[in-house]
Amino acid sequence: MFAVGNWKMNLTLEEALGLASGVVSQVSELGLGAESTLQVGIAPPFPYLHAVGTLLEGSGVELVAQDCHAETKGAFMSWVSAPMLRSVGVRRVIVGHSERRKHGGDDDTRVRAKLEAALAAGLGVILCVGESLEEREAGRQAEVVGTQLRAALTGLSVEQWAETVIAYEPLWAIGTGKTASPEQAGEMHTQIIGQILPELLPAGVDAPFVLYGGSVKPANIDALAAIDGVGGVLVGGASLEANSFGRIAQGCAPGGGGVSNDARSE
Ligand code: 13P
Repeated sequence: MFAVGNWKMNLTLEEALGLASGVVSQVSELGLGAESTLQVGIAPPFPYLHAVGTLLEGSGVELVAQDCHAETKGAFMSWVSAPMLRSVGVRRVIVGHSERRKHGGDDDTRVRAKLEAALAAGLGVILCVGESLEEREAGRQAEVVGTQLRAALTGLSVEQWAETVIAYEPLWAIGTGKTASPEQAGEMHTQIIGQILPELLPAGVDAPFVLYGGSVKPANIDALAAIDGVGGVLVGGASLEANSFGRIAQGCAPGGGGVSNDARSE
């Protein structure tokens, strides 16, 4: 399982470094990488990536960026490109987050372009998808998520799939304290893994991790990690405190309620 902390637009540099070292010590007890099926990542704001990345060296914790531009370079003032992120030690980038879709105008076409740019730069991706409250109330959640996934992922190569992680984040659960029920999350994860991904995956390629995101907390991690098809979590608010994120990572560790990597597509 994969536990990722999305710090969004929070913290000073000093606070970010403090939190990163807290996360490293929390997860060092859990064992990462070759020793474990648990993967952990943190996504600090752009200005802190290099310093946090230096601190993470050798820890097994992945350095993740919150976004990238679709172009590699040029007159795109204030943006950050995928090769720039790679050059400061980033391993993976989040694309299609609902806050980018809502406030940054990222539509499915731009999300696809960013995903391709990240993969071309040698980065992995976390593709976020999810429906609004209005869409769920109209019973359109599977259609909305299916459209987002097809737009971003159709035609990826076997190598590109190996670098792709999906995060299902229902918009109505983000920052609201309202978590999808085990039934709601289970239904969507089953639909993604059982119906949508088989259409898109080349023959013989395993389904990628499908993370759940939206008000994940220490209090609900064990229930969420136990849901069929949940391959980890993308955590906002509760990742801003080391103990809280450490507890969430523990819930994703083998024996901690989560399933192993091998079982993620079963
Ligand atoms: P919260 O965990 O604060 O609801 O945020 C979820 C999210 O958007 C993670 O990407």
